Amino acid sequence: MDNTATINIGDKSFTYPIITGTENENAVDLRKLRAETGYITFDEGYGNTGSCESSITYIDGEKGILRNRGYSIEDLAKNSTFLETSYLIIYGELPTETELRAFKSKISSNAVIHTNMHTTFDGLSANARPMAILSSMLNVLGCYYPQMASNNREQDLEFFDDAAALLISKVRTIAAMAYRKEVGLPFVHPREDLRYAENFLHMMFSEPYKLFEDKAGLADALDLFLLLHADHEQNCSTSTVRMVASSGANLFASVAAGVCALWGPLHGGANAAVVRMLQQIHASGDDGKKFIEEAKAGKAKLMGFGHRVYKNYDPRAKIIGETVDKVLGKLGVSDPLLDIAHNLEEAALNDEYFIERKLYPNVDFYSGIILKAAGIPVDMFTVMFAIGRLPGWIANWKEIASNTQSRIHRPRQIYTGPNLRNYVPLAER
Ligand code: SDX
Repeated sequence: MDNTATINIGDKSFTYPIITGTENENAVDLRKLRAETGYITFDEGYGNTGSCESSITYIDGEKGILRNRGYSIEDLAKNSTFLETSYLIIYGELPTETELRAFKSKISSNAVIHTNMHTTFDGLSANARPMAILSSMLNVLGCYYPQMASNNREQDLEFFDDAAALLISKVRTIAAMAYRKEVGLPFVHPREDLRYAENFLHMMFSEPYKLFEDKAGLADALDLFLLLHADHEQNCSTSTVRMVASSGANLFASVAAGVCALWGPLHGGANAAVVRMLQQIHASGDDGKKFIEEAKAGKAKLMGFGHRVYKNYDPRAKIIGETVDKVLGKLGVSDPLLDIAHNLEEAALNDEYFIERKLYPNVDFYSGIILKAAGIPVDMFTVMFAIGRLPGWIANWKEIASNTQSRIHRPRQIYTGPNLRNYVPLAER
């Protein structure tokens, strides 16, 4: 097959090469289009546009496939941990025992934040939203390590390993502090002897007189939750991180921007929106059927359903759905919201409206129920998503920063404003 694409504009033909990826996905390389034709492409929402070549994650939305550095999410969920998968995503290979031990040690010894940052917390309003705190404090963190946040790419890359470990470690501390501030409790210092998710739950729920005890294996469920969120190709927040990184901005500023993009209810904010939706349905006495009709009539969105890429079941949703039953079983609790979620899923998967639009549960549909079972408040759910996605953002920043050919991201537009006009003095308007 001729590995080119031809575009006919008027009586002229223009030919462009086809780029083919590892898994035989194809793209038309239009990097010379405007120079040769004066035309640009128009693709609002970038649904048909590849912004980069990346070797971190592969998704086949039609088949419901997700792989991090070639390993299936099912394989990693079954055999790996969040920190091991974070190492894989950032460095490209599963770590040796020595490498993993060194990575874990760097993370466990980096959990404390500078006491001056505690004062920064004091200056925040009492009802500050956790995602606003997280984004701000990740950027502020860079101020304490100016050598790692210099905006001189060569220098920032030299300190990359330390910055990556420091961010993955301290993001938990900052998140837990945001929660403790919100509920008016004293901050709890991290411990060096606890595993990653265990230390987070300790900083969230331990009291001076009583250390948090993980009786129901919540740390394991949380570790799996974080692993499943670790990277997901060029989603809205990861593309934001790449956009900011493309200007030469440092890692701290780039991931802080990623937090802001993730916050939106159509993206990372959906896990909280799902639980609020289930709570509303429960409170109304509806078993879900009425809500489905409202969603079909366009009067409501079935949060946690649908995906720009997955036109099949999100493999992460399947894994989380199975974990929810285990976690609630271990806790010995039942959650009426889970029954409603099951009803909604059952109804939607058998309804023409959802079938023809290929709408399936996504990663957010069940994840909130696990977080709720762990005692994490709803307005901290998206913070949990951000903790999980941080390794992916870090890996994408590095892919841009270490590529000497990378260019600043600067899309074009179709202008629809007024034609040229002259200034009209105030008195004449
Ligand atoms: C994440 O990109 C990623 O990888 C993201 C993510 C990651 O790991 O980073 O996977 C995480 O963000 C998951 C998605 C979480 N968001 C939600 O659960 C919010 C609910 N979902 C929708 O808002 C929506 O499905 C999106 C935003 C996820 C995708 O939107 P698209 O691709 O722009 O699709 P669309 O809005 O154009 O919808 C196509 C049709 C429309 O109907 P018609 O105009 O054809 O009649 O499907 C309908 C939509 O109304 N539709 C829904 C629906 N989602 C789409 N109808 C009811 N409920 C929904 N949830």
